Amino acid sequence: MTIENVTQRPVGGSDPARVYDYFIGGDSGLEADRSAGAWIRLQAPDLLAAMQENRSFLSRAVRWLSRLGIDQFIDIGSGFPVSPNTHEIALSMSPSGSVVYCDVDLEVGQRTRALIAGTKGTDFVQGDIRNPEKLVAQPAIQKLIHSGRPVACVLAAVLHFVPEDADPERITAVLRESLPHGSYLVVSHVAGDIPWTERNNVETLRRAFEDMYPRTRAQVAKFFGDFEMVAPGVVPAVKWHPAEGTSGEKPDLAIYAGVGRKV
Ligand SMILES: C[S@@+](CC[C@H](N)C(=O)[O-])C[C@H]1O[C@@H](n2cnc3c(N)ncnc32)[C@H](O)[C@@H]1O
Repeated sequence: MTIENVTQRPVGGSDPARVYDYFIGGDSGLEADRSAGAWIRLQAPDLLAAMQENRSFLSRAVRWLSRLGIDQFIDIGSGFPVSPNTHEIALSMSPSGSVVYCDVDLEVGQRTRALIAGTKGTDFVQGDIRNPEKLVAQPAIQKLIHSGRPVACVLAAVLHFVPEDADPERITAVLRESLPHGSYLVVSHVAGDIPWTERNNVETLRRAFEDMYPRTRAQVAKFFGDFEMVAPGVVPAVKWHPAEGTSGEKPDLAIYAGVGRKV
């Protein structure tokens, strides 16, 4: 199926993790995911750019934290592996570090386990962020939390799949509470208060992913609780420590990003 002949959202069978993977250059998708992706691309080209910008933020944040000496990462809602993955960046900068991936999707688990098999310092935990107590109780995560060193907990493009009735503020509070002092929280999240152009509207996003909950900057900021925000705070992802030479050139896309530190 080509983009040109997609005029309606293909019905059923597509999966958010695989559609997203299609957008950021992965190859995990089935026909249903590729056609859903093509439909989104046609309806909302900025959405494609926003997802790529999210992935770029994730890489920049991991690199930025690694430069600070953070060498332990818990990457929740990690998605299908697409290089550069968190462990590829983190372990290239700190070879003795640790990265634990976590996702609710069984296929993501299979693909991630296959990729990291034999890579020292990596692990994968199958789990649902909506049950954060169970997640942090997993031995692989406990090991990092009790290592005596700070940890970065990465929630990139995952909280917008958590509805209000699952209480995302409580979820993030439990995760923050579990981290040792000096740890970091990394969040990116689809924005509900950054306007899209006429053809790139939030309705397309909702119809594309069905269960997606865009939030305002103030709502995203609350996920950091009393953590000290790293400058520039919660901002459109393009503005979070932009890569050298790109500052100010890109328009704000509807995805927020921020990093906070537990003091
Ligand atoms: C858009 S992808 C983000 C991948 C990666 N973090 C990134 O930013 O490039 C969202 C991922 O969150 C996962 N996810 C959705 N709901 C989840 C939940 N309740 N618990 C854990 N993972 C979840 C999906 O399976 C998917 O792999």
